[in-house]
Amino acid sequence: MQRQKQPKNPSRYWSAEDPDHINKCGKKLKNGYLVAFPTETVYGLGADALNTNAILNIFLTKKRPLTDPLIVHVSKIENASRFHDLNQVEKDLFKALADKFMPGPLTVVGKARKDIPKELCANTGFVGVRFPKHPVALKLIEASGTSIAAPSANLFGHVSPTMAEHVMYDFEHCGIDILNGGSTAFGIESSVIKFVTDLESEVIYIEVLRLGSISLKMLEDFALEYNKSLSSKNSSLEVYVVKATQIKEESENLEGPGQFLKHYSPNKNCYILRSLQHGKYSESSFENSLDLKKGIVLDFGGSHKYLEEFVSNYKDLSPNGDVREAMKNYYASLRELEVIVNCDYILIADLEQQDRLFVKENGDFVESLYDKIFRSCEGLLAICSGDKKDPKIARVK
Ligand code: TXA
Ligand code: MG
Repeated sequence: MQRQKQPKNPSRYWSAEDPDHINKCGKKLKNGYLVAFPTETVYGLGADALNTNAILNIFLTKKRPLTDPLIVHVSKIENASRFHDLNQVEKDLFKALADKFMPGPLTVVGKARKDIPKELCANTGFVGVRFPKHPVALKLIEASGTSIAAPSANLFGHVSPTMAEHVMYDFEHCGIDILNGGSTAFGIESSVIKFVTDLESEVIYIEVLRLGSISLKMLEDFALEYNKSLSSKNSSLEVYVVKATQIKEESENLEGPGQFLKHYSPNKNCYILRSLQHGKYSESSFENSLDLKKGIVLDFGGSHKYLEEFVSNYKDLSPNGDVREAMKNYYASLRELEVIVNCDYILIADLEQQDRLFVKENGDFVESLYDKIFRSCEGLLAICSGDKKDPKIARVK
């Protein structure tokens, strides 16, 4: 992550508690300026979704490739059809999803209307629409009199922002307006799904492009209920939830999902921490071991508490093993830890595999949070000798 160097055009805070400030920010949006605002997931960097120049300014400010499409935020479900061009079966499915999950942290990607800025869709012909739940986001969209295109309000590739201060840190000198509404509730982004419809076979696939604040199980339970209601109406249509697994390089045009491996990354190397069982490693595994005094442990459920006395810093995302709590704390913790001086790297608990044992609450969200952990670490692993009196850590090559 590169910080802006010229202190030319300072960004400003506005208070979400003051209705005048919300109205002022709404007008700024309508006039083509960028406004960062809170949603229930993370802060977004907003622009009028129907103003091409304003949209291009998002890409420029975020240093985001034009190949990565943006999400449109609406304050009424009816406004989705200003962007989506869905067929009848997709419209019915969208309505049922909206009844169940909206307003809330679900983004639906569907065929895009031809009369919307193609930059929104990164020329894919598909657009993502989301109806957020945060009252400030809803008031701001209303005040703008338009719909708002907004990616997360961080520099491209950096950790997503869950507080107004995180937005300021990344865009201090970009002259943007930041509506401060405190910490966000979920802490990780919306789940993004795409409709892939095969009318001949009478199947709609709900392709999960990004797992976030709606869990895979919630979507699968929804599909089960929806299929039951279809068959009770003698419809032969069926809906399936499928996970998109591909990871894209930055240079690739995102015809489907925008899923880069390196994402949500702090300014320090991160590794997924895996402990070896005694006897399952050779001494040579630790010949080039990492200096523990320069390391930080970001733990879950106290799974690596014994490392606390050996490393420079130790933090637990949720000592009680609650995955929702860990999700809420994850990005804020990375931002807190990345600025600690004299530390080189962060070891993050292996929530999905080894440390799954420590999950006590909200286990449905393990995959969502692990996806973020995996990308922060670019999939890199570090092994720990597991010796509680004299532990050693090494990168896995
Ligand atoms: O919770 C959220 O979704 C936040 C808040 C601000 O609403 N927004 C957010 O936007 O996370 P962004 O741009 O940082 O991430 C959106 C993801 C990207 O990976 C993007 O590639 C994907 O959704 N996406 C958006 N529109 C798409 C489309 N038309 N086709 C495929 N993927 C799309
Ligand atoms: Mg983002």
